[in-house]
Amino acid sequence: MILRVCILAFAVLTVAADGPEQVHLSLGSTEGSMVVSWVTLKPPTSNGLPQVTYGRTAAALIQVAYGKMDDFNYNGVIRYMYQAEMVNLLPNETYYYSVGVMGQMSKTYQFKSFPKGNDFLLRVCVFGDLGYINGTSLPYLIDAAEKGQFDMVLHIGDIAYDLHTDNGQRGDLYMNQIESLISKVPYMVIAGNHEDDGRNFSHYNYRFNMPGDTNHFYSFDLASVHFVGVSTEFYGYFYEYGQDSVFTQYNWLHDDLAKANANRKERPWIVGFQHRPFYCSNDNSEECAVFENRLVRTGYEEMPGLEGIYIEYGLDLGFWGHEHSYERFWPVSNRTVFKDGANPYANAHAPAYVISGSAGCHTPKASFGPPNPASAVRSDDFGYSILTVHNTTHLQMQQISVEQGKAIDEIWLVKDHGHKQKPKEQSNGIALPEVPAYTAKCSRWDKRCRYEASKRRMARSIVRFA
Ligand SMILES: [Fe+2]
Repeated sequence: MILRVCILAFAVLTVAADGPEQVHLSLGSTEGSMVVSWVTLKPPTSNGLPQVTYGRTAAALIQVAYGKMDDFNYNGVIRYMYQAEMVNLLPNETYYYSVGVMGQMSKTYQFKSFPKGNDFLLRVCVFGDLGYINGTSLPYLIDAAEKGQFDMVLHIGDIAYDLHTDNGQRGDLYMNQIESLISKVPYMVIAGNHEDDGRNFSHYNYRFNMPGDTNHFYSFDLASVHFVGVSTEFYGYFYEYGQDSVFTQYNWLHDDLAKANANRKERPWIVGFQHRPFYCSNDNSEECAVFENRLVRTGYEEMPGLEGIYIEYGLDLGFWGHEHSYERFWPVSNRTVFKDGANPYANAHAPAYVISGSAGCHTPKASFGPPNPASAVRSDDFGYSILTVHNTTHLQMQQISVEQGKAIDEIWLVKDHGHKQKPKEQSNGIALPEVPAYTAKCSRWDKRCRYEASKRRMARSIVRFA
């Protein structure tokens, strides 16, 4: 009898281990659609197409959408990566769903579709740099999602630390650990430096399915916001993978923001997200003081930076990660700070930025140097941000400390209809102190030269903002 029970238990575990896991949602390519992605570690047991069955009651998953599967071979470990898209979802409805292939379907999950149009309350949870080990915020995030406290997650790079560690087992563990959250609300991601797996971000490319043609830069409209995510890693790894992606992304971003800017009547807000910051004041990083910050902000060699294009099209708010802390900036453009008036974020002169990289990972707490003159608030508490899109004129951004169990910072971005950010010469901006220019000239292919230049920059990194 004992033997039979053991065999039965083993059989149940085996089926579960071979079936769909790491189930997660992302926004589809059209309004009213949702993509579901999942993984199996063994090949599917039937020849049926991958599918998601879904419906408005758990007992009647009467709709079906067929998807596709890709084999993903990383160092000889093969994973089976699936995706299927549910389309024409009724707005603002609870849906139940199950994924798999015929005869090997998952348990039932659920999510709520978004309301239609541009005029609804939207709550977005934003964080970067969340690890499987010491992911301090994760239980709080799962709890908050369980209580329905937000509708979507933006993970702005550095995922699991790392998706590819132990040939990808770390990624599997992380994605299963966070599944109860990301099977309930869309999990929108952008790559950080930790997503480079030595195979040109292959784990990141295979594990996620963002809207559009690539996971590295994409945009979507939701409520009264045009969201746009871009890769800073095209800059960070250009010496490894070339500069072409920087130009492709730049041209796409130009077109995307031009269209979004022309559509301000319908969606007045433009919110960006990317991994590496333009500005920061942590003392553990020379990136923000001299080089790496400029690499992304203003570009390098022939590569154009990103800040100019945000200024040109009047980005309202940008989220950054990479630094393992929280730092909010006054509106700032091209190293000029605009903090005049009772609320500098009301009809602002320049984009506002927030570093939200304190979700928690294996590293010790972040520390700060002297504040950047553009710094408004800094905190090393573990936590995450909540962006609440109230309507076409009001955005609220809060930073939640999971250590204190409350919001520790809050701003309101307010904008009159038709407001345009003014060029800096028309406003009373405060210029940031200059820092020494980076002068080393290395061929993009000369890794040794770049390494030596990096060491010289490190030595100069004692230069701080006053
Ligand atoms: Fe990073």
